[in-house]
Amino acid sequence: MTIHIGAKPGDIAETVLMPGDPYRAKWAAETFLENPVCVNEVRGMLGYTGTWKGNRVTIHGSGMGMPSLSIYVNELIRDYNAQTLIRIGSCGGMQRKVAVRDVILAMTASSLSTPSSGIFKELNFAPCADWSLLRAAVSAAEAKGTPTHVGGIYSSDVFYDERPDINEQMTRHGILGVEMEAAELYNLAARHGRRALAVLTVSDHLLTGEALPSEDRERSFGDMVEIALEAAFA
Ligand code: ADE
Repeated sequence: MTIHIGAKPGDIAETVLMPGDPYRAKWAAETFLENPVCVNEVRGMLGYTGTWKGNRVTIHGSGMGMPSLSIYVNELIRDYNAQTLIRIGSCGGMQRKVAVRDVILAMTASSLSTPSSGIFKELNFAPCADWSLLRAAVSAAEAKGTPTHVGGIYSSDVFYDERPDINEQMTRHGILGVEMEAAELYNLAARHGRRALAVLTVSDHLLTGEALPSEDRERSFGDMVEIALEAAFA
């Protein structure tokens, strides 16, 4: 057990999928895994371990924002030996070519700051995805026929942004979407020599104002979970 995860040693698989929302972890585990068992419910941050095509997988919530994700990813890596960590979440589209419901595979994650900024100080470290996971996710998305974009995303510290100029600069520089977790996931994976990727569904759009109706969210989310599972065990 750790401060924030009640799982026993061995309860967590080497491969961990991480939605922000703990209820999405429950839904994904019950929908896609065989024999899912709840291994954590401390503070309502649900985690489940089961198998997918015979492979052990944990699906565990990260919470919203990089400070929350940092707590869970640190403990999953240091105390439970997680080796492959894939964020499955939503993002806001930042390019016209990116449509609501499309999937984004985050090659890099830019940010103004992360919980690791104190380590990097004046250095602008470039957090990036694990290449083997990214390549496998591209193949899985192509095989499924899911409209998919591969490129840079922006990990923001705020959802209600009082500085629209940052979003404008991100769009101007080709950034595909905005979310709030991937940059620190990539930082931590780099620091500890683990594999990480963020697979994101576009749930809303900053340029068009469109938003995914709630009844569509589950199906789009399901495509993303399958892409992540295929990539993890390719
Ligand atoms: N996650 C989903 N949509 C988002 C947005 N517009 N900004 C930040 N995070 C998001």
